[in-house]
Amino acid sequence: MRNAQQIATVAVVGLGTIGTGWVAQFAAAGLTVRAFDPDAEQRAALEATVCDMLVRNGQPEAAEHLRLSLHDTLEAAVEGADFVQENVPERQAIKADVLGRLDRALPGNVIIATSTSGLMLSDFQDALTAPARLVVGHPFHPVQLMPLVEVVPGRRTAVETVTIAEAFYTRIGKVAVRLEKEAPGHLVNRLQAALWREAVACVEDGIASVAQVDAAVVNCLGPRWSVVGPHMAFHLGGGKGGLRHFIDQLGPGIQTRWEGFRTPDLAAMTEALVCGVEDEAAGRDIDTLQQERDRKLAALLAHRAG
Ligand SMILES: NC(=O)c1ccc[n+]([C@@H]2O[C@H](COP(=O)([O-])OP(=O)(O)OC[C@H]3O[C@@H](n4cnc5c(N)ncnc54)[C@H](O)[C@@H]3O)[C@@H](O)[C@H]2O)c1
Repeated sequence: MRNAQQIATVAVVGLGTIGTGWVAQFAAAGLTVRAFDPDAEQRAALEATVCDMLVRNGQPEAAEHLRLSLHDTLEAAVEGADFVQENVPERQAIKADVLGRLDRALPGNVIIATSTSGLMLSDFQDALTAPARLVVGHPFHPVQLMPLVEVVPGRRTAVETVTIAEAFYTRIGKVAVRLEKEAPGHLVNRLQAALWREAVACVEDGIASVAQVDAAVVNCLGPRWSVVGPHMAFHLGGGKGGLRHFIDQLGPGIQTRWEGFRTPDLAAMTEALVCGVEDEAAGRDIDTLQQERDRKLAALLAHRAG
């Protein structure tokens, strides 16, 4: 297998929301990118979208020196690639088909990373001739801004694959968190689902509106968690006695709250939630909201890094 430093050409398969973000991230790192999507419109729009992302991210030189080629077939796109990032729709059958095609098209020592948000890698591995090179490299939207990538092995993934993928993502500027084993939703989507479950339940129970829940997270948990994680936050919340004191004092209340949590009915809540976010958006369309989010996120991350 190529080590992380030897990876110079990356193939990106699937050029929707996530694939496009990966192309920008790889291009910003100066890599050669070979791209494929069966949708000709996605292919045609890619270069301009990526250049625009790079310029907005303050990386105009990466846009100027873009080494990007578009291909009509998956097999042509992965020719000569040192690493493949797969981003096709989150459907078991589509993923199985594409991962199988990638496996047949590539030498067994080329790593295939999938962006899957929640599918289990092991479910795909038995059908491959070289399952040891398959790994999850799960990013977050917008890929080119959010630092984290979760690196997750399947049952048959080689340790070397995980180590190289982790080092490669680190090299291109991501923060790679390597999970010990696979789980539905990996790590962050499990945490996110747990918080959103309670956020929806609070709306359903009339404790707070959609906008009030969002304001509470944006003005409290968001800023706090952007500098310390939930465990460390409570360690500090315990003062000089740290987490032990925090648990002694507040643990029983938290335990009781956990036991009282229930799962809301998402289908029944959909209309109320959609109306709630529309009220919160106050006439701003999705493009405007995304641009606002990306501008603030980029400023926050730049400040944190500085
Ligand atoms: N959207 C997110 O927030 C997010 C975040 C992290 C990971 N992911 C994961 O990334 C993957 C892609 O999600 P997305 O949101 O970019 O989806 P998307 O629908 O925006 O894009 C999917 C792209 O795949 C293309 N495609 C369809 N069939 C294909 C095939 N056979 N070969 C190659 N390309 C094909 C489509 O034309 C489309 O452009 C999913 O596995 C998803 O779980 C999504």
